[in-house]
Amino acid sequence: MFSQRTLAIRMVFIVAWKYDIAVVGAGGRVGLPLSLVLVESGFRTVGLEIDKEKLHLLNKGQMPFYESEADEILSKHIVGQTGRLLFTEDYSLLTDCESIIIVPGTPLANDYTPDTSQIRDVFAKAIEHIRPNHLIILRSTVSPGTTDQIREHLKSQLSSEVFDSIDIAFAPERLLQGHAMKELYELPQIVGAFSERGYKRVALIFEKLGVEVLHVKPIEAELSKLFANNFRYIQFAIANEFFSICESLNVNFGRVREATNFNYSRSTIPYAGYVGGPCLGKDAWLLIKARGCHPSQSRLISSAYEINENLPEIAIQIAKKMIGTLTGKTVLVLGITFKRDSDDTRESPVHRLLNLTENEFVGNLVIHDPFAEPEDLKAKVAAADVIFVGTNHSQYDDAAFLKHAKPDCLIVDVWYQLNPHLGHAYFAKEIG
Ligand SMILES: NC(=O)c1ccc[n+]([C@@H]2O[C@H](COP(=O)([O-])OP(=O)(O)OC[C@H]3O[C@@H](n4cnc5c(N)ncnc54)[C@H](O)[C@@H]3O)[C@@H](O)[C@H]2O)c1
Repeated sequence: MFSQRTLAIRMVFIVAWKYDIAVVGAGGRVGLPLSLVLVESGFRTVGLEIDKEKLHLLNKGQMPFYESEADEILSKHIVGQTGRLLFTEDYSLLTDCESIIIVPGTPLANDYTPDTSQIRDVFAKAIEHIRPNHLIILRSTVSPGTTDQIREHLKSQLSSEVFDSIDIAFAPERLLQGHAMKELYELPQIVGAFSERGYKRVALIFEKLGVEVLHVKPIEAELSKLFANNFRYIQFAIANEFFSICESLNVNFGRVREATNFNYSRSTIPYAGYVGGPCLGKDAWLLIKARGCHPSQSRLISSAYEINENLPEIAIQIAKKMIGTLTGKTVLVLGITFKRDSDDTRESPVHRLLNLTENEFVGNLVIHDPFAEPEDLKAKVAAADVIFVGTNHSQYDDAAFLKHAKPDCLIVDVWYQLNPHLGHAYFAKEIG
């Protein structure tokens, strides 16, 4: 029999972890803000990252991408050497971390099936460092059933003593890039845990960020993340479908949308616009493929995908309808990132607009983007025969730069950002 004191000492010994949390994929758009918020909330945090370039930057206290308000916090801990945040590629440190949050990329393969290679690589590297009582939280967006598969995989790889002592959960990330440092303190966390004990351990982490936490099954949490993104994706497709109907009837969709939504809470039609990026289009396919192998089994989502993907094609058709041909013209595309005020060009729908424009044998294809190609907006506008608004960055909200455009320059703006009154296609000389 142990005395109370011996038991207390044993407990302290068992839970004496050197670090509280490891974030795997810590140099990523999700992993990095999460690591920063965790360390700010008092957790001793290890960021595991295999990309050497990102590691190099992070260890100098520099952000590898833009995320509002993140630089100061990174610099505070790395340059200021608080000793509570460490970035490394050394997986052996997992042994010293009580919890492991796993958030590598989950892109699509060329055939639109999920590419889980980054997740599989994480587990291949981590497996020998998993020890009793670890809490393992998967946070990447995954197909329904993935957390169950990972649990089975771990069961087959670990001793029963270790496997029975660990907790496994899925807690999806739902933040909006650019707003991560704020939203991580606000958004409720959905925790898919296999046990009450596992749920409570995950809840303890997120409650420290001051947010609400909800316990569901892992597959329910996986689906809820996919449903949230697909709901948005389908809403954007509805707007793009309505835009396309208005376009063929020569009606200003912006005005119809405004009228439809005007003080009428049952109508919340979003803007039309190019939709894509590393999440929405990909997550559509995670759901389509979850139901079976053929898109016809998920018609609503497949149609949303077709509609959203087709918008660049419609924009090109609009331009050709107005000026006959794009061949030989100087075409300027404003904004190439996948969404407003982000520097992320991954899976940007504007790539498709650029490809389609090039296919028209344009004379000169020019790009401006405040994050990716910020130089010479005025000069680029002055030289353009056609301007497409690709991404509705806030820098373009003030359309005064259009005064530099040639009178016959055509502007195609499916966002209705630059001059909503004139619609989605007009000539510079029409601007008052
Ligand atoms: N970007 C978003 O806005 C967002 C929002 C919500 C959810 N998600 C989901 O979060 C996940 C991550 O997305 P992201 O945009 O952060 O991706 P990302 O590519 O920016 O980040 C992933 C990071 O993981 C690293 N990595 C890959 N394999 C690794 C390994 N074996 N060990 C350590 N590090 C490894 C990569 O080098 C990269 O830095 C995806 O499933 C995505 O769908 C993303």
